[in-house]
Amino acid sequence: MMSRSESLERMPAAADPGVTAEIAERLVALPRSRLVTALGQGIVGLHRIIADIRLSGDELLAIVAFLTEVGHHVDRRRQEWVLLADLLGVSTLVHDLSNARPAGATPNTIPGPFYREDVPEMLAGSNISRDGKGEPLEVSGRIQALGGRPVAGAGVEVWHANDQGVYENQDPHLQPEFNLRGRFRTDAQGRFRFLTVKPAGYALPSDGPAGRLMIALGLPPVRPAHLHFRVCRKGYETLTTHVFDRADPAVDRDAVFGVKPELLAEFRALPPRGGRPCHALDLEFVLCPARAGDTEPNGRK
Ligand SMILES: [Fe+2]
Repeated sequence: MMSRSESLERMPAAADPGVTAEIAERLVALPRSRLVTALGQGIVGLHRIIADIRLSGDELLAIVAFLTEVGHHVDRRRQEWVLLADLLGVSTLVHDLSNARPAGATPNTIPGPFYREDVPEMLAGSNISRDGKGEPLEVSGRIQALGGRPVAGAGVEVWHANDQGVYENQDPHLQPEFNLRGRFRTDAQGRFRFLTVKPAGYALPSDGPAGRLMIALGLPPVRPAHLHFRVCRKGYETLTTHVFDRADPAVDRDAVFGVKPELLAEFRALPPRGGRPCHALDLEFVLCPARAGDTEPNGRK
């Protein structure tokens, strides 16, 4: 067992050595575990913040009320705690630390809440816009391994919001099922292609305490326009990522911190059709080999 002085050495110094040292001493008397380590560091850090800013009793009550309200915004369709973790950068930090990929491989990102795994596979070149609303977008891409070898037979799933920034499963009465979702298979050269419409960016919910907090800070919870992709192939790590519209004005202030330089893409202008602007997107994703013990999600390869 660590002594009290050893335990405190491992933790940041606290402004109130009395209560902080007391709780640290109680924790180091417990069997060692990640929970005890995390609680020890978390509690000492929390004590330090409270002492540094001289948190008042009223402010503590306001924090308790805020956290209580977060809990009241949780049900089968809504998870305000996850939204709060997203908006505070916690989700992306945990994801990035757990999903580091070798240089040259396309970065993973959080999948977001709108993924569906039951989308049927479609023929190359199919249109995933099932209501035809929006500005046409032609997407073509290539899946390759580190080193440049094409990855044939990879499953490529795509899902994105419509031109109003709304996903099909948020909007079941106004959009056809599976609208703006597709599943494709790469050819022998690792290529895939499909037709869709240009997505718009969107705002995350701000009718609850997490979104209201960000608005009060002057940081409205907006996401720049993007498409989500998931690429699976046996022998490779499954890639879940985004492609962002480089020209979106919100690209530097993504509310959930998903934008990475490698994920910015240019929507090229094509000649208008039927009076509507048209766009094209050329993509390249680089997979890295699976590590020992990796499993493919849902058994899909
Ligand atoms: Fe999204």
